[in-house]
Amino acid sequence: MTTILVTGGAGYIGSHAVLALTEAGHRVVVVDNLVYGHRAAVPDAATFVEGDIGDRGLVARVFAEHPVDVVMHFSAYAYVGESVTDPAKYYGNNVAATLSLLDSMIAANVKRFVFSSTCATFGVPARIPIPEDIPQNPINPYGTTKLMVERILKDYDAAYGLKSVVFRYFNAAGCDPEGRIGEDHDPETHLIPLVLRAALGQRDSISVFGTDYDTPDGTCIRDYIHVCDLADAHILGMEHLLKGNGSGDFNLGNGRGTSVREIIDAARAVTGREIRVVEGPRRAGDPPMLVGSSEKARQTLGWNPKYADIETIVRHAWTWQSANPKGYPKS
Ligand SMILES: NC(=O)c1ccc[n+]([C@@H]2O[C@H](COP(=O)([O-])OP(=O)(O)OC[C@H]3O[C@@H](n4cnc5c(N)ncnc54)[C@H](O)[C@@H]3O)[C@@H](O)[C@H]2O)c1
Repeated sequence: MTTILVTGGAGYIGSHAVLALTEAGHRVVVVDNLVYGHRAAVPDAATFVEGDIGDRGLVARVFAEHPVDVVMHFSAYAYVGESVTDPAKYYGNNVAATLSLLDSMIAANVKRFVFSSTCATFGVPARIPIPEDIPQNPINPYGTTKLMVERILKDYDAAYGLKSVVFRYFNAAGCDPEGRIGEDHDPETHLIPLVLRAALGQRDSISVFGTDYDTPDGTCIRDYIHVCDLADAHILGMEHLLKGNGSGDFNLGNGRGTSVREIIDAARAVTGREIRVVEGPRRAGDPPMLVGSSEKARQTLGWNPKYADIETIVRHAWTWQSANPKGYPKS
């Protein structure tokens, strides 16, 4: 049995990883300050510690009380627009607090780290589907904070022997197929939950920003990867490190692009409801197409995403959202 410290385990992706880890029989300790997370998203089988990963005393106590083998680091701020208007908030939490966590790890001699990075580190990519080895040129502070941590991890490996698996997610989507946990962000900026809010009548319509891109239907194309497939990748990444392998970076997408219109059509098919669309101009900084190549994760880690079909992804999201239209209970 392995003991994993999951930071941000009360958040959307972290809670799905916690569920997968506890179901696989591992011991899990979650540290989350609940700034965006939900206590109710953390399964009972996990130990929950409310606190900030930048709190050295608290993190040292967690390491003293639990025999942590691996840290999975999901906690961060992840609103691209806000990172432009308030970069201090992002450098403070995503970089400085992460550095504090890494230093606490070194002090406790915990040397395996799985990191939630993002396709936003690539900026406007030079190639599609995006492999790991093209230049990373983020176009917003959020992407920069994640790239900075990637660079820090390289130096910490060379100097302190801290081994890491860096996962660059594309668009996380869907929910636990059994509907036990889901996606509840406030504010919500992700397309699928927003479209489903329109289906629930909680929004009047869904806005489509740009219908004149050089894509088959004129709308932006993104790579939607099921959150449970991300959780599976984390278990494989952890096992990779536990087997004594060196550090590595992996893009995690399903390799298939889906346009905004295709998402809306899938949501109409899944929900059987009308969804009103309002078309508007392009948003600054939105590349027409972002699709990842996950060949390296497939080859090296044996990752095999189960839910590539977009209707399945939307259906799982709908299962939770329609049963929890107000999200998690407020605690
Ligand atoms: N959702 C996506 O599509 C996506 C894509 C690429 C990368 N990512 C990355 O994946 C990770 C998880 O994303 P998510 O969508 O689950 O976000 P989320 O906001 O749902 O979860 C983040 C969690 O971290 C907690 N947190 C934030 N700062 C903290 C701190 N200093 N101490 C303790 N807890 C803290 C929040 O309360 C929240 O529960 C993030 O690092 C994000 O940048 C997400």
